[in-house]
Amino acid sequence: MEETSKSINSRRRTLRETLGLGRASLPVGITDRIEHLSVLDKVNQVLANAVRHRLPAGSRVRDVLHGVPTGHPLHPPLATVSLGCWIATAVLDMIDVDPRASRAVLATGIAGALPTAAAGITDWSVLHREQQRVGFVHAVVNLTALGLYSGSLFLRMAGNHRAGRLLGYAGLGAAGLGGYLGGHLAYRMAAGPSHAEPLTHLMPLGWHDLCRLWDLPDGRPVTRRLGYIHLFVLRHGAQVKVLADRCSHLAGPLHQGRLAIVDEEACVICPWHGSVFRIDDGTVVHGPATAPQPSFDVNVRGDGVVQVRPRQA
Ligand code: FES
Repeated sequence: MEETSKSINSRRRTLRETLGLGRASLPVGITDRIEHLSVLDKVNQVLANAVRHRLPAGSRVRDVLHGVPTGHPLHPPLATVSLGCWIATAVLDMIDVDPRASRAVLATGIAGALPTAAAGITDWSVLHREQQRVGFVHAVVNLTALGLYSGSLFLRMAGNHRAGRLLGYAGLGAAGLGGYLGGHLAYRMAAGPSHAEPLTHLMPLGWHDLCRLWDLPDGRPVTRRLGYIHLFVLRHGAQVKVLADRCSHLAGPLHQGRLAIVDEEACVICPWHGSVFRIDDGTVVHGPATAPQPSFDVNVRGDGVVQVRPRQA
């Protein structure tokens, strides 16, 4: 028994060594390798430019596909529709019910894949290089799943249910792999979650001294540090506005962004991918960011010291 487990472990080690995966588990090692596939960069750049050209920054369609109106990225919840339908198809196939039921559920999954892909590719077009590499492979695997399921539906409609079922199971395997890569992108590479959220837990409640009012330039944003936190600070005369400096999309430095009036409100445009935030309260005007920038209350003491505290909702 001990011998068997030793030999399995040694075989695993050899496979990992052959693939150059170091001490990582097999799936993690493979996804880590995909992150470094620089051979994908050229094609990614061309595709991402084409998507951004088709969906210009600030357009209504692009904001909806990012999920700005819903406040969360739109792609993950849409993806669960197709994946759920395809899992249901496999279950229905296994219990051998009326083939019309599995056909209807399968077709719903295929229909759901189209808006899911549109939202996904819109998010993907404004990711970092490593994230785009994993995203590209994720898309190719999911397109393979979509192709297998389309073939499966076609075969079922032609009356070849057995072959349709087999193709459906193959599609589920591909969709599962695509889901794993999507999870890697979201949870390990942080494409999607707010990058400004942890900030609210790093600052104790109450007022904190930040700097002197007259040390701040007039009308030009600067960054100031408060403990671990970088803040975006903008002074106009005696008025000071303070937001978190790291953009909620992918942590771009907002103080290096452009100031603009958008919809008659003072805004800052992130220098990395163009998210637009209201300076007054940090809310999102245009994506790709879907989460607001944390904003701060400001108090200027009589001796000119600027104090800040996290804004309570
Ligand atoms: S980091 Fe992407 S828009 Fe700010």
